[in-house]
Amino acid sequence: MADDRRPHLVVFTGSGISAESGIQTFRAGDGLWAEHPIEEVATPEAWRRDPARVLQFYNLRREQVRRARPNAAHKAFAALEQQGFRVSIITQNIDDLHERAGSRSVLHLHGEILKARSTVDARMQYPLPRGGIALGDICDKGSQLRPDVVWFGEAVPHFPDACEIVGEADLLLVVGTSLAVMPAASLLELTPRDAPSVLVDPEAEALAPPGVTRISLPAGKGVPALVRHWQREGRLWVPQTLVG
Ligand code: APR
Repeated sequence: MADDRRPHLVVFTGSGISAESGIQTFRAGDGLWAEHPIEEVATPEAWRRDPARVLQFYNLRREQVRRARPNAAHKAFAALEQQGFRVSIITQNIDDLHERAGSRSVLHLHGEILKARSTVDARMQYPLPRGGIALGDICDKGSQLRPDVVWFGEAVPHFPDACEIVGEADLLLVVGTSLAVMPAASLLELTPRDAPSVLVDPEAEALAPPGVTRISLPAGKGVPALVRHWQREGRLWVPQTLVG
């Protein structure tokens, strides 16, 4: 909406926002990548070498996502939107917890685990076969189906859309990401000059780039606290009582 004058909150989330819903993050000592090395389950080479292993990894993760429920942070964004704020969510997460909480504008930078796609043509998407994707499930061109997720070494097709959204932010709120993965992390450099950026993450002190305000709290505490301030005042701002 080009003439939309409502305050525009752009939210950029990582796996930390879903941690309190029971979904594992990636880079912690007990994170997903420690248990399942990236090069064995999340690269095009891994897929070529051992597709059964890759499919099994994503089928198990899909079950974890289905069991999870949106937490207070996901719900707070949906409530803010309900109240009339313009809220655009860009997520690195492949789960659907933002949508299930009720958020309507969600861009999945790294794809969606609840969708399948053709191996030869990313635009050919399919509903998930019952029980997950199996070897032998094929697209209309006869090639194997794969999870509709972006693997390491692959292009990020929605990145230009994300850049455009961040460029229209009144405030950029980053939640639960170590900012270790490019190009996603570079979105923080694209905010308009007068728009503040805030990171909510227990490790915010160590992770926030210069110029980004740090709120060192878990998402389930930090996000609802911020959103309550915004709902009360009808504007986006950074309450100093939460900073640090
Ligand atoms: N609330 C908020 N943040 C939390 C919480 C919590 N309750 N618990 C942990 N975190 C934070 C950690 O401090 C860490 O900064 O979540 C972050 C998780 O970081 P990573 O494991 O690196 O995950 P993420 O940043 O989402 O990874 C980005 O990398 O592996 C790829 O494609 C994958 O989308 C993923 C991308």
